[in-house]
Amino acid sequence: MTDDILTFSSEKRQGILSKSSLPVDTEPEILSLRPSILSEYIGQPDTVETLKIAIEAAKLRKEPIDHVLLHGPPGLGKTTLAHIIASEMEGELTVTSGPTMEKGGDLIGILTNLSEGDILFVDEIHRLPKVVEEFLYPAMEDFAVDFVFDKGIHARSHKYRLKRFTLVGATTRVGLLSSPLRDRFGIFRSLDFYNVQDLVKIVIRSASLLELTIDEKSASELARRSRGTPRIINRLLKRVRDYAQVRGDGTIRPSTVKAALVLEGVDEKGLTNLDRNYIKTIIDYYNGGPVGIEAIAATLQEETDTLVDVVEPFLLKVGLITRTSSGRKASQKAYKHLGLKTG
Ligand SMILES: Nc1ncnc2c1ncn2[C@@H]1O[C@H](COP(=O)(O)OP(=O)(O)OP(=O)(O)O)[C@@H](O)[C@H]1O
Ligand SMILES: [Mg+2]
Repeated sequence: MTDDILTFSSEKRQGILSKSSLPVDTEPEILSLRPSILSEYIGQPDTVETLKIAIEAAKLRKEPIDHVLLHGPPGLGKTTLAHIIASEMEGELTVTSGPTMEKGGDLIGILTNLSEGDILFVDEIHRLPKVVEEFLYPAMEDFAVDFVFDKGIHARSHKYRLKRFTLVGATTRVGLLSSPLRDRFGIFRSLDFYNVQDLVKIVIRSASLLELTIDEKSASELARRSRGTPRIINRLLKRVRDYAQVRGDGTIRPSTVKAALVLEGVDEKGLTNLDRNYIKTIIDYYNGGPVGIEAIAATLQEETDTLVDVVEPFLLKVGLITRTSSGRKASQKAYKHLGLKTG
């Protein structure tokens, strides 16, 4: 660990310390569709209420809000909530992610640069290397980090006081987080897939930001086909807009939505080609399961992580697959959805 700090180059420090967002978060259009205050955040009522109370209480006490851990599948609004917490608390947001920090020094550089009340957002926190994670424990608990100078018998350590900050961690896989790390978060919330009513509100809001008109029927058609995910409904809305402009008269109707989504490979339940191929693999190659995830990934030639993080949560949610101790199984519903006879 000593080596890590000593070899922490100034060149690297520059890149890591700049208070900039990750490229994906600065994409202008995506950012503009992001609600920026808590009252504009649609759905997830329990999480919103928890955060509202914590933010108000922290403001009354003039303290930073407790560390927050957000868990949930991609695109449900974890990054959005981190932005909202920072703006509600009037702190500056520093964005980083687990895999980009390789050494303890990478994190120390970021931590020592935070001011009182700032928010540090660590995306994919489950992918933080162990050596880096260990620096987080005292930072989260005592707002201090231990610098170690020299090596061997000359080694000396110096406690460096940090400003009181708030860590917001996001993860798609809370099970991979070590329990010492998980236990240091005062607030832990899991985001669930959005229901159709909330997605309708989201797409109507996004449409008005994009200066589009969308009727209630088209909005609910999109909502039913968006895998319960705000990021997906926003993406599909843009594809429907394009389709309406090029193939229609610019007006979004239920028929435009349907035609545009056929082109996107999105079916009436919102499943994509990858979702359907995943289910077909279980049925065609493994007799409907149970089959291990590694075997499915190998047959599909896909990353296991993609299947576990992106594909499975929604298929489990809508009951198209089940997970047993011996592997994944396709349900009766899956056979029916694909128009197949039960095997
Ligand atoms: N509650 C919400 N209300 C309105 N729009 C939302 C909401 N949550 C998310 N969105 C929209 O969905 C998009 C994706 O959200 P966000 O980037 O926060 O997801 P995420 O959970 O961080 O995903 P990932 O795990 O992939 O990083 C945002 O750009 C925003 O436009
Ligand atoms: Mg994110």
